[in-house]
Amino acid sequence: MATIEPADFYQFLLARRSAVFLVDPAPSPAIVEKILTAAGTVPDHGGLQPFRFVVIEGEGRDRFGEALVNAAEEAKGTTLEEAVRPKIKAKAFAAPLQILIIYSPVPGTKVPFTEQMAAAACTGYAMILAANALGSAAVWKSFAYPPGSALRQLLELKEGEQSLGWINLGTERQKEGATDSKTNRIPVRARLKHTVIFVK
Ligand SMILES: Cc1cc2nc3c(=O)[nH]c(=O)nc-3n(C[C@H](O)[C@H](O)[C@H](O)COP(=O)(O)O)c2cc1C
Repeated sequence: MATIEPADFYQFLLARRSAVFLVDPAPSPAIVEKILTAAGTVPDHGGLQPFRFVVIEGEGRDRFGEALVNAAEEAKGTTLEEAVRPKIKAKAFAAPLQILIIYSPVPGTKVPFTEQMAAAACTGYAMILAANALGSAAVWKSFAYPPGSALRQLLELKEGEQSLGWINLGTERQKEGATDSKTNRIPVRARLKHTVIFVK
């Protein structure tokens, strides 16, 4: 097995950046399997695995997009305007492949639900890091509305389960002439300085 210098891995962590535009090719099935395997390595109190995943790709994105439109319509209680529909549906086509993260809490254990959700959220970051390490670009996305009936059916959402959004995966494409606003962004540590308290 190849080894990696811890210092290199640390630099990899600092350099991580979400992708802005994602296009084909999608990660191969073998890479997707590895990304999902990485999700299973997260800190998980009690080993409950309070999470599961739904992989959307290819034509499946059409059903996903329609389900997002349905969710918006059910939340608003009205049919969306023709101009708005494609904008919402386009979220499903923003990448060649998506992995939705479903928080699936396990009741009746001593592990509080907050900890279970924390474990589920870790899977998103683990999958992004794994994807980047394996050559895929990634960004975590979500939706402003609660899942409607179509999305619940598509994701097979059970009582108590919640979508934590999805990881868009693919190949990064820089928009023609665009400057990467994130390239020169404030270093990570500087961004954290107001949110870290040290007790000595
Ligand atoms: C649960 C979750 C949902 C997110 N949803 C969105 C989203 O819908 N749209 C968006 O622009 N960024 C979303 N983000 C943030 C991006 O994934 C990304 O972290 C952010 O653009 C900062 O870029 P960076 O990861 O390169 O620092 C979400 C992050 C998390 C953790």
